[in-house]
Amino acid sequence: MTSAAEPLFQPLRLLRLTLRSRIVMSPMTRQFSPGGVPGQNVADYYRRRAEAGVGLIVAEGTGIDHPSAIGSDAPGENNIPVLHGEAALAGWKKVVDDVHAAGGIIFPQLWHMGVLRVPGTGPSPDAPSSRPSGLCGVRVGAHSLRPGVVERLLPPTEPMTDSEIADVIAGYARSAANARAVGFDGIAIHGAHGYLIDTFFWEETNKRTDRWGGDRVGRARFGAEVVKAVRAAVGPDMPIMLRYSQWKQQDYSARLARTPEELEMLLGPLVDAGVDVFDASTRLFWKPAFEGSDMTLAGWTKKVSGKPSVAVGGVGLSKDLQTGFAGDMVSVNNLDQAITRIERGEFDLLAVGRSLLVDPEWALKAREGKPFKPFSVEPFSYLH
Ligand SMILES: Cc1cc2nc3c(=O)[nH]c(=O)nc-3n(C[C@H](O)[C@H](O)[C@H](O)COP(=O)(O)O)c2cc1C
Repeated sequence: MTSAAEPLFQPLRLLRLTLRSRIVMSPMTRQFSPGGVPGQNVADYYRRRAEAGVGLIVAEGTGIDHPSAIGSDAPGENNIPVLHGEAALAGWKKVVDDVHAAGGIIFPQLWHMGVLRVPGTGPSPDAPSSRPSGLCGVRVGAHSLRPGVVERLLPPTEPMTDSEIADVIAGYARSAANARAVGFDGIAIHGAHGYLIDTFFWEETNKRTDRWGGDRVGRARFGAEVVKAVRAAVGPDMPIMLRYSQWKQQDYSARLARTPEELEMLLGPLVDAGVDVFDASTRLFWKPAFEGSDMTLAGWTKKVSGKPSVAVGGVGLSKDLQTGFAGDMVSVNNLDQAITRIERGEFDLLAVGRSLLVDPEWALKAREGKPFKPFSVEPFSYLH
């Protein structure tokens, strides 16, 4: 059957992989992995999306093998998955096998919270948090963090030393090697939203005067070294996807690049390091990125990097992530804009977050032009 949405269901080649559609499941933290170990419920959750035509699943943010990678609001609890240790790796192997059996492709998202880890929490509460310059970058009146959390993040810490930086990079590499060993198809790296890699990119949190700071090229170095280490760990044929964003949870109005030229300076070192696809995280995917053009951030990303790109934000929904939990949120079909832009080559893939939480069959319905499930926040609190 052909439908207006058919361009979203054209395959895309990514190194050794062929994605069967342009729909990506956006990474979404679920905190349903007690002790960091994903269970059969997590495997079923991803399998359902693979069965219904999602071309690429980017699994939820997953703590890298480093003591300060993850934390939580509740001391002692860790329900965020990790990618090391026998039990977690066995759990992930089952997730990957089930997704593959449904014809799907899945990447883990390697995550280090950096400055946003609440000190004293997570699997290693005593580990000092990792911050490029000791600063968390919260801008009063412009952040999305809860009051109780902000106070715990505000006190400055010691900046990371060279050996701490090397340890973190090695943690990314070990986790990537583990991901390959359990059968993941590629690696997604979380370089967005004010977490560790992003705070090296961002001038408000990176005041370093050594090789890890300075201009955009210097601030891109940490991310680039992570990418190189991941590449060395997984080999040349496994795609590496990097997510970055202008906005930060610490400051929604933050910008890493004010012009396409500045964006090129930032992304160039990451391309040279081995990124195969960029995920340009925005709140509304169709918004112009820079003045004077209607091109999106995903569009500019592809143009200045020469790499395929992913657009994200507000697909199937009337509101963005930061305003979209209000009662007047509704499901809409706003795929036209994405289809036009994919057809003209502006970007290649479309990531879908909340719509895919609400409706596991969202991609199938998009293809068949069927109505989507009405939006509800209920599925946010359990895996379905
Ligand atoms: C419950 C929830 C958890 C999320 N967790 C992550 C995450 O772990 N990593 C990440 O990069 N983005 C995360 N995001 C952001 C989404 O991947 C996506 O970029 C955002 O929701 C915008 O897409 P949407 O408008 O389609 O929901 C999360 C979003 C939601 C709603």
